[in-house]
Amino acid sequence: MSLDPHVAADFVKSKAEGFAPRVGIILGSGLGGLADKIEAVASIDFKDIPDFPQSTVEGHAGRLILGRLGGMPVVCMQGRIHLYEGVDPQDLAVPVRVLKLLGIDILLVTNAAGSFHEDMGPGSLMLLNDHINLTGRNPLVGENDDRFGPRFFSMEDAYDPILREHLKAVAKELDIKLHEGVYLHYLGPNFETPAEIRAFKTLGADAVGMSTTPEVLVARHMGLRVAAISNITNLAAGMNKETLSHEQTLECAKLAAEDLENLVIIFLGTLKRELLKAHMKEENDGDTQ
Ligand code: HPA
Repeated sequence: MSLDPHVAADFVKSKAEGFAPRVGIILGSGLGGLADKIEAVASIDFKDIPDFPQSTVEGHAGRLILGRLGGMPVVCMQGRIHLYEGVDPQDLAVPVRVLKLLGIDILLVTNAAGSFHEDMGPGSLMLLNDHINLTGRNPLVGENDDRFGPRFFSMEDAYDPILREHLKAVAKELDIKLHEGVYLHYLGPNFETPAEIRAFKTLGADAVGMSTTPEVLVARHMGLRVAAISNITNLAAGMNKETLSHEQTLECAKLAAEDLENLVIIFLGTLKRELLKAHMKEENDGDTQ
């Protein structure tokens, strides 16, 4: 039987009555620390939410936290479900739809990733400007649910240009180097072979990971504005002598965790003002055309 995001959302709403999050945040491997910075209104284990898919991966606590971060009302997924866990791809639509039903209009996604560039090593941050979904899977395959979005939709500018500019400006202000590039989603659960990495470089990707594209597809289907940041935990397979492992991912995720936390908190704190400015600029540009 398929999971119903309305059932899950109604349950969450009952635990945080009157609280309306504007931004949804999905935290990747080893990035759970940001969740501790939230002034929480409610914190709910995924396992207690009816019709919510469950994560099985270490480093993913599996908790939904509602509260304020940088003054912004947010709902944060500490942990996520991955395609490699063998779940029905359609189940991956549920968490993002729940966030939308709770009221968000912006989704901020984080992940851990391996880099294809020597000068973007462990401890770097990469802002996604596009992605390549190489998994052959998509949570939107199957009958379209018209309540959430249209059958066909564009993925141009999926990573919102205004949010990207704002994140870059905040990073500059904080003196944090923010790389920018294309994220390639590899199904996993194994890390890639060196030959695959060489092939992926020729495809135009800059980093590789095992998440994010399902959530971004579901978010864009509903018209949410999306931003995403990779926490680079390693150079990709074949680029150094270290053997890749999940332990190494979790350990190296700590390197840039503080930068990422600061970036996100200041981003959220200044978001309202920037969005308002951008909207006004768009309107003014429209008037003069
Ligand atoms: N490949 C895939 N996923 C990852 C990697 C990687 O090198 N590093 C962190 N997550």
